[in-house]
Amino acid sequence: MAMEAQHLPQTRPAIRTAAERFGVWERPDLTYSPAVAKETEHLYERVRDFIPAIEWPIFAPYIHAINRLKKERGAVILAHNYQTPEIFHCVADIKGDSLQLARDAVSVDAEIIVQCGVHFMAETSKLLNPQKTVLIPDGRAGCSLSESITGADVRLLRERYPGVPVVTYVNTSADVKAETDICCTSANAVDVVNSFDSDTVLCIPDEYLAMNVANQTHKKILTWKGHCEVHERFTADELLEYKKADPRIEIVAHPECHPSVLAVSDFAGSTKGMIDYVKTNRPARVLLVTECSMASNIQVELPEVDFVKPCNLCPHMKRITLPKILDSLLFMTEEVTVDPAIADRARLAVERMINLKN
Ligand code: 13P
Ligand code: SF4
Repeated sequence: MAMEAQHLPQTRPAIRTAAERFGVWERPDLTYSPAVAKETEHLYERVRDFIPAIEWPIFAPYIHAINRLKKERGAVILAHNYQTPEIFHCVADIKGDSLQLARDAVSVDAEIIVQCGVHFMAETSKLLNPQKTVLIPDGRAGCSLSESITGADVRLLRERYPGVPVVTYVNTSADVKAETDICCTSANAVDVVNSFDSDTVLCIPDEYLAMNVANQTHKKILTWKGHCEVHERFTADELLEYKKADPRIEIVAHPECHPSVLAVSDFAGSTKGMIDYVKTNRPARVLLVTECSMASNIQVELPEVDFVKPCNLCPHMKRITLPKILDSLLFMTEEVTVDPAIADRARLAVERMINLKN
């Protein structure tokens, strides 16, 4: 008699969450004690122009607890230039623009990375550190550019423009990166586009960045209708009003702005490029045409420069706060994961960018 096939239950290794792997810790005392005041005194010096003395007792216990906890957990905090001054100056270990953060994420010597920035930045860190635990204090911190396009859209573009190389801005999901040839940031977009032999290049999804790149290359650039909701609000007319009021003012813009904005600017570059320009040239007055926390962050090092801040905030970057960073370290949340089916291809696109020789 034939034996009936036995259907044994499939056993798969259970995926353990970061909280299960590292444990959940109790919330520390958040009193502004004399000991906390003393140990955070030097940090207040960095942010005193932005945080009134009366408010420091609210910030200091969080900063103190985060700095202690990150050491005990063996964690490193990566922060984008748009984070608020108390994060940027008081708890961040590594700071920078998207390119610097992507490069530094590769050499982070810690088991846990807490990404203070938006979700695509945390995803990039995870791609480059598949064995590490990457946390983002608020997983809802998105980006209008990242949300403007999907992997399926890129597959359709490839069908429509066969053979045309696809350069994707890092401000995209891993799903989109996986469908593309190489990533770029605003710091290296022109070099990345010029690295192809092809006469035509798809540069997606930021329409304005693509138009600004097109102004600096002989290649034909095809693009997508994605925009940064912060930078698209700046207009050339508005900037010319500032120039009229003070002709000495220098205007420094981010390439996510419309080309007409760059046309009336003295310099354009990534957030790091903008910071370097101001540090090198030390203009008496400068208008930073970008997210407004950045001016506060660099003002600390350049007290003699008068920063004019048209205050456009990125609501996504501002989701990251000290209480959420503390919770992230206590409860190991929110863990960033990338679907293994797309991770290898997405990583390749980021690594090609990092390894590109100029
Ligand atoms: P940077 O790469 O210049 O830091 O820009 C990132 C970003 O999101 C700008 O809006
Ligand atoms: Fe995205 Fe613009 Fe915010 Fe940068 S500033 S994260 S591009 S929405």
